[in-house]
Amino acid sequence: MEEKNVLITGATGTIGKSVIHHLLRRRQITAVQIIAAVRSLSEGQQELQSASGDLEFRHFDFLDVSTYDGALANIHTMFLLRPPQITDISGVFRPLIKRAVALGVRKIVFLSVQGAERSSIIPHNKIERVVKEQGIPYIFLRPGYFMQNLTGELLEGIKSHNEIFLPGGNACFNWVDAENVSEVAAVLLSDLENEKNLVLEITGSEQLAFDQVATLLTRTLGRKITYRKASVLGFLTQRIRSGVPPSKAVVVTALHYLRRFEKSSGLSSVYKEVAGKRPTTLAAFLHHEREAFT
Ligand SMILES: NC(=O)c1ccc[n+]([C@@H]2O[C@H](COP(=O)([O-])OP(=O)(O)OC[C@H]3O[C@@H](n4cnc5c(N)ncnc54)[C@H](OP(=O)(O)O)[C@@H]3O)[C@@H](O)[C@H]2O)c1
Repeated sequence: MEEKNVLITGATGTIGKSVIHHLLRRRQITAVQIIAAVRSLSEGQQELQSASGDLEFRHFDFLDVSTYDGALANIHTMFLLRPPQITDISGVFRPLIKRAVALGVRKIVFLSVQGAERSSIIPHNKIERVVKEQGIPYIFLRPGYFMQNLTGELLEGIKSHNEIFLPGGNACFNWVDAENVSEVAAVLLSDLENEKNLVLEITGSEQLAFDQVATLLTRTLGRKITYRKASVLGFLTQRIRSGVPPSKAVVVTALHYLRRFEKSSGLSSVYKEVAGKRPTTLAAFLHHEREAFT
């Protein structure tokens, strides 16, 4: 089997790391050489220590054009994600994607977000359009709302204040385990022969509003967790004061606030179809992660 190079951007993050682990598990059945694109080679190697024997690392910084050619040389497929703090699509993503295609990248698998097609405000919408313009095969993965937000962005509020503070109102979110998203990504990234354009929504099996999530957390942790509804201004101010870059705070606010007015995206069966398993439930995720909240 001829080996082909797959470049993973965001390799040290929640999704990238897990995509790499799932791809490595599939090494027996695919002829894919996995290349982790990292800002710091030493930190990347440390972060991905358990996998590093089978991995190649390349220096790559979205914000440093001089790293593009080295990272993108001889790549068949690029797994592209948007680090949450980068919102400049025409200044960063357009040149990157065009350079990738000029250097011979044959397919782009982009981690987008559910509902991206409906809102031109969110950066993923613009990135999808730039990818489509290139005329090479693409796969857009549009996940719902990561369960890992509870153990990431929202963890401090839950741990220190026993509350979730968000501008999501009573909107329901389609919860999904980022691990399930990564597993789907790994299956698709292993299939280099497939040249069909695909757009796949990936969710778990539950649509839950934040007051329901607070109830589940209360039950799992054995202490009262409250959902405090934030106003747009109150949330933005709190985020920026806690050190979140303003451009990222605006996107996070929009992703929660706009859900109040959008027609709800449905649940999807893609995970079950691709992985052959039931997706993680939020109760199972919380039970597994319960120690993180104390
Ligand atoms: N959270 C959700 O509910 C949700 C739902 C659907 C879609 N999404 C999308 O998922 C994406 C985020 O994925 P994630 O959760 O895996 O992100 P993450 O955990 O925050 O990881 C971000 C990754 O990007 C890398 N990175 C940051 N700045 C970089 C730069 N200048 N150059 C190169 N690499 C850089 C980081 O590397 P370092 O280690 O160097 O920092 C890290 O590997 C976003 O586009 C988000 O909109 C999220």
